[in-house]
Amino acid sequence: MTPPGSRAAQAMPLRKLAAEKGLVYGTTISAAQISTDHEFVDLVLQQVGLVVAENDMKWQDMNRGRPGKDDYGAADTVAAFGIENDLALRGHNLLWYYRTPTWFFDLATRRDQERAVVEHIQRLAGRYRGMVHSWDVVNEPIEPKDGRPDGLRTAVFVETLGPEYLDLAYRVARETDPTARLVVNEYDVELDTPDHEARRTTLLNLLERMRRSGTPVDVVGIQAHLCCAGGPPFSASRLRRFLADVAGLGLTIQITELDVTDENAPADLAERDQLVADTYSRFLDAALDEAAVKMVVTWGLSDRHSWIARRETNESKWRSDGVPSRPLPFDADLKAKLACEAIANAFVHAPQRVAG
Ligand code: G3I
Repeated sequence: MTPPGSRAAQAMPLRKLAAEKGLVYGTTISAAQISTDHEFVDLVLQQVGLVVAENDMKWQDMNRGRPGKDDYGAADTVAAFGIENDLALRGHNLLWYYRTPTWFFDLATRRDQERAVVEHIQRLAGRYRGMVHSWDVVNEPIEPKDGRPDGLRTAVFVETLGPEYLDLAYRVARETDPTARLVVNEYDVELDTPDHEARRTTLLNLLERMRRSGTPVDVVGIQAHLCCAGGPPFSASRLRRFLADVAGLGLTIQITELDVTDENAPADLAERDQLVADTYSRFLDAALDEAAVKMVVTWGLSDRHSWIARRETNESKWRSDGVPSRPLPFDADLKAKLACEAIANAFVHAPQRVAG
């Protein structure tokens, strides 16, 4: 076993250190990166055991403006890349309020919307049947602020299809690909604030309700988009309790979109990198204590390709001084950072678990 903090730990690819503990380490990729950024692809193949399409499998990104008119080209490229390189593949995502084709909103009847949802899940999950480790079936289904008693997000699906759209989506996903683990993927459930607490309670209630109804759900995805300075407080014990509650429902857990923004951190590079690395350590040391946590995915591997570093995808976390953000394990020149060491050590410190 690799000793903590050792040169060996730093030299070992993250995927190997994770695998030693029964964990899978993965990251995002795109068809564009696969075909244009070869040195980045080499780093991905060196460091990860799993890939997930950052955008290429999202309904609106694939759809060409009409029901059933989906271009799977980019999604196929990511899937083939995973299969050819013996990497696990995460599916992101089958339904997401934020990337649903605009024509869907024009469907007037429940029957039309239901058919569109069912056919989309059957086509997309069917296309990669048996190849996908886990699917985010519904991404971000809760929003307590919308004021529903069940805390569900009102946008897009609930209004016409009712809360049972979730049961429909998970049931059809299971029928279409019985081998894929089915995930409910959420954000803002990691920190020690009343909002995050309300979201944790809402999510647990939803999962209990789904389990009670016999709806197939296997995994909770915790996005973990964190920040290293000026953000809400973090409580390791609060997070551990939540993870234990999820595990208590017989579900496993995946950290699905981990990154650490630095918009409020000092510009000084060494100081900023240390703050980012400390945030990775604090979160992973707490999360990986839970044996039901089976996977860690960073929402990017290198600062060269991060949604945080692109103004059009990230107005809120943009550094006002215009200095490039450094949220990920490797810098824009693909050099390992303190954050990479922090993740490596968290894997080395983590208790052993059964892979899952
Ligand atoms: O592909 C179009 C391109 O044709 C067009 O020229 C360009 C101009 O705006 O937009 C491109 O689409 C962008 C797409 O990323 C691909 O780059 C969208 O505008 C942009 O909104 C989209 O941002 C993605 C965002 O999800 C919305 O789908 C980010 O890259 C992606 O990192 C982000 O990831 C989400 C997870 O899926 C869910 N959880 C939160 C996470 C961060 O927001």
